Amino acid sequence: MPRVLVLPGDGIGPEVTAEAVAVLRQIAPDVDTEDALVGGCAIDAEGAPVSDETVRRARETGLVLLGAVGGPKWDPLPPPKRPERGLLRLRKELDLYANLRPAAVIPALEDASPLRPECVTGVDLLVVRELTGGIYYGEPRGRQDRDGQRRALNTMVYDEDEVRRIARLAFRAARDRRKRLTNIHKANVLEVCAFWNEIVEEVAPDFPDVELEHLLVDAASMHLLREAARFDVVLCPNLFGDILSDEAAMITGSLGMLPSASIGDEGRGLFEPVHGSAPDIAGSDQANPLAAILSVAMLLEYGLQRLEEASRVREAVGRFLEDGYRTSDLASISGGRVVGTREAGKLVREALG
Ligand code: IPM
Ligand code: MG
Repeated sequence: MPRVLVLPGDGIGPEVTAEAVAVLRQIAPDVDTEDALVGGCAIDAEGAPVSDETVRRARETGLVLLGAVGGPKWDPLPPPKRPERGLLRLRKELDLYANLRPAAVIPALEDASPLRPECVTGVDLLVVRELTGGIYYGEPRGRQDRDGQRRALNTMVYDEDEVRRIARLAFRAARDRRKRLTNIHKANVLEVCAFWNEIVEEVAPDFPDVELEHLLVDAASMHLLREAARFDVVLCPNLFGDILSDEAAMITGSLGMLPSASIGDEGRGLFEPVHGSAPDIAGSDQANPLAAILSVAMLLEYGLQRLEEASRVREAVGRFLEDGYRTSDLASISGGRVVGTREAGKLVREALG
């Protein structure tokens, strides 16, 4: 029987995750779920943003559904002790090197985008972000004292194997979609990016049906605002992917809508909303649970290979929106019948039948 480790985390994490788990139970009653702590709540209760025991259980189940981590309470902590480190450790220890972040404009929500409709129509892209390397993990890192002068450093470094495996995955994703791959870089300045591009070029001949282009990260951030519909699969090193995926998410209208999957080669996966822990609205039944629910769809698709169930979850979310329901983040822009987190979850489950 498949098992999923549920890590609700902090802020709105527990609220949105509860709705997502209820959807999972309904659509896949044979899947067992079990809970553990991650993030600030784990720091408070267990002394670390993720405990060794939780990492062990995550490896064992191989599938993780996560809410969100972090909050003002833990902001004063230095980077190595912060809630985010729990997430970073899970990604690394489970070798989840590929982060998939689809950003598509849902027709019912076209008017929720902060951009003019002509910049938004037809947007349907997938950010493939390298997730276990680059500047997030590179050594040396940290703070130093040099002759009384304080300084700090991080290192952006990639091995060829790291680049090759994420590039292959991105090419495969493009092959299954519109066959266009945009590789994001800053090779006009950074050696590591020039090297990354070289490896991507080495992989390209294995995918002759996919059209490859290279695009500077600064130009890409501009093109995303002007004509995001031109993008299909967007391949990024870790840091650029972090930034561009938030931009892509915003274009679609709400960060509250977007799920993500972090996957590796061993069939393992961690599934989580792209949005953060939104401490300002935590506990007020206002959070949008759709990203968490759509993360369940990604879990069904990539973690359990149950494509039909995954589509049913997506359709139920579509129906909820078409029926005119909105959580407050969406309603403020596009109007509609405003419902809270729990009501939204319940309506999606009803639509699921
Ligand atoms: C994300 C988040 C994380 C990241 C943080 C919470 C560590 O911003 O998943 O995009 O930077 O990867
Ligand atoms: Mg981010």
